[in-house]
Amino acid sequence: MTRPPRLPAVVRDPSLPERVTIYEVGARDGLQNESGLVPTDVKVELVHRLVAAGLPVVEATSFVHPRWVPQLADAAEVVARLDLEGPVPLPVLVPNERGLDRALEAGCRHVAVFASATQTFAERNLNSSLDAQMEMFGPVVRRAREAGADVRAYVSMCFGDPWEGPVDPGQVVRVGRQLLDLGASQLSLGDTIGVGTAAQVGSLVDAFAAAGTGVERLAMHFHDTYGQALANAYAALRAGVTTLDASVGGLGGCPYAESATGNLATEDLVWMLDGLGIEHGVDLDALVATSTWMAGHLGRPSPSAVVRALSGGPG
Ligand code: HMG
Ligand code: MG
Repeated sequence: MTRPPRLPAVVRDPSLPERVTIYEVGARDGLQNESGLVPTDVKVELVHRLVAAGLPVVEATSFVHPRWVPQLADAAEVVARLDLEGPVPLPVLVPNERGLDRALEAGCRHVAVFASATQTFAERNLNSSLDAQMEMFGPVVRRAREAGADVRAYVSMCFGDPWEGPVDPGQVVRVGRQLLDLGASQLSLGDTIGVGTAAQVGSLVDAFAAAGTGVERLAMHFHDTYGQALANAYAALRAGVTTLDASVGGLGGCPYAESATGNLATEDLVWMLDGLGIEHGVDLDALVATSTWMAGHLGRPSPSAVVRALSGGPG
């Protein structure tokens, strides 16, 4: 009987980065979109498993309004059971000062704000506007840094918006640079609804470079709605991006953008990076076992092709 290969053949392309940081968002972006409530115990175990699988950063939850995202209303209970002082950063989303207060009280050392590149999504996701979102984030970033926390900043709808259509890269750069000027350490550029294609990725990196922002400040965050996430991740590598967001088993979406489905699956990304000989430090078998365990809790299989191919277990 033949067995499916558990590792790809490796062909190193010297024009690509040698090492990539995988920023795991499954416990946050993945679970915020679940129709049912995932028990706190399962969320905590998910984060523990992801850390044990070697993920270098594991986003844990969100301190957003519990009425807006009831799926993550147990944020304080989740982080109370995590090792926030450990070697693996466990960032949490905070939209405003109330969210920051809750995160700091809970002992969080890494937070992320999340802006929109478009007016409509700023209204829908943050009950705000393009300008007002920056007024909201200004004191959050300042106070977080004064408290010694690192601040990442997301920009959503960087490649297209379900209400406004294609998004001008200039608009993304404007919002992104405002966030860096406020003091964010890294920008994660989100294809929230997964409509982007590969050449757009390089153009966006070029647009930031032309405005004076180097690629080392940029991460990319792809959703797989149209099956483009892995191709876009490859385009990001070609453009020199060395931090890629991904979600275990391809969980994910955004409750305020109905056309958003799952994120780039971490397993699919790891398989590609392995084939390209790019270091990442993640144990693929442990990740697949985690997705299979999670699928048991969610009652449906992972959409990841790599999880499907490997979920028979080693050997
Ligand atoms: P609002 O209703 O305008 O809030 O919501 P407000 O400032 O008017 O306050 C109203 C009440 O809510 C007040 O209480 C506040 O204290 C309370 P009251 O005085 O009436 O008793 N409140 C809070 N309570 C707990 N935690 C908080 C909080 N803030 C206010 N943080 C708000 C504005 C921003 C809070 C709301 O719109 C919100 O929570 N939005 C979050 C939506 C969300 O989580 N979306 C998904 C994450 S983004 C994403 O997935 C995209 C990403 O993955 C990248 C990509 O894919 O592109 C990151
Ligand atoms: Mg997302």
